Amino acid sequence: MSGLITLIKDDHAKLEAVFKKLESAQPDQIPDLLQQVTEMLVPHSKAEEEVIYPAIKSTAPDEGEDVDDGLAEHHHVEATLKQLRVSDPGAPEWMA
Ligand SMILES: [Fe+2]
Repeated sequence: MSGLITLIKDDHAKLEAVFKKLESAQPDQIPDLLQQVTEMLVPHSKAEEEVIYPAIKSTAPDEGEDVDDGLAEHHHVEATLKQLRVSDPGAPEWMA
């Protein structure tokens, strides 16, 4: 499990770096960055949902609500990514 946790933490750092790039990206750079986020985030979320979250729930039942919040956040992020990938990154409201 510790190897998987290290991978998860590495993913978080890599994703954070891409999000930082997104904050200052030019509109023409955004589609590639969103593609990178999608390719990194989907397997990452799946690993958390299939391995990490069930392990937390079974070993620390008191953390169940946080796990459910994490799951809801994944769904929100995936929906937001889908929306961003079909929207115009040059539009003034895009970064909001
Ligand atoms: Fe995560």
